[in-house]
Amino acid sequence: MTGKFISIEGPDGAGKTSVLKAILAELRPLLGERLLVTREPGGTGSVVAEAIRDLVLDPNLPTMDAWTEALLYAASRRQHIVETIEPALADDKVVLSDRYVDSSIAYQGGGRELGVEQIAKLNTFATHGLAPQATIYLDLDPKIGLERIQTQRSDEVNRLDVEALAFHQRVTQAYHELIERNPERFWVIDANQPLDQVIEQTSASMHQILHDELG
Ligand SMILES: Nc1ncnc2c1ncn2[C@@H]1O[C@H](COP(=O)(O)OP(=O)(O)OP(=O)(O)O)[C@@H](O)[C@H]1O
Ligand SMILES: [Mg+2]
Repeated sequence: MTGKFISIEGPDGAGKTSVLKAILAELRPLLGERLLVTREPGGTGSVVAEAIRDLVLDPNLPTMDAWTEALLYAASRRQHIVETIEPALADDKVVLSDRYVDSSIAYQGGGRELGVEQIAKLNTFATHGLAPQATIYLDLDPKIGLERIQTQRSDEVNRLDVEALAFHQRVTQAYHELIERNPERFWVIDANQPLDQVIEQTSASMHQILHDELG
């Protein structure tokens, strides 16, 4: 498969969506239609994946079993790659995804304590091993991320945002273990800086990752 697949990860409120928006404005003129931006759960251009997104993020479903949740994330991801990511990569596009498998490993494996190995296996099955070539990680103490969400985005708090701080600390711990085990894939950015600086450093990393594509 050609193309380039890049994911952006980090705890809630780290700035993934804000940074991607800025990066998109910069990369769009350079890459044009070659750039595809998407996000999980759900995914650009997939009605089925988006329907599963609505289900897994619904704050009114507190009885959802943790493994049901993990399976739904994996199901949504499967649909996302089949309908969106793989066709784009086959078409030699640059795919930027706001969250991917690492999020499941961190949130369901670490946060919900289902086990990172088990969640990794489930996702290898769901994705037949499709992994990003590079992952931008916005590194932030989850306490600060949650404060940002509560003060600035309280209108769209979802089912995972309302989990206790201990949950989010397990999430961050699992992310850090992933980074230790895959140093060649991760590009770690300190997200506890003014947004402009986070954007600038992410952009610099992105230019290195996309060295060939940007000529
Ligand atoms: N570096 C920063 N400094 C201060 N505030 C920030 C910074 N980055 C993002 N924010 C603010 O924090 C809030 C959360 O940012 P954003 O939605 O981009 O995070 P996210 O990583 O996408 O979170 P989620 O995982 O919940 O989707 C927003 O209100 C955003 O404006
Ligand atoms: Mg976001």
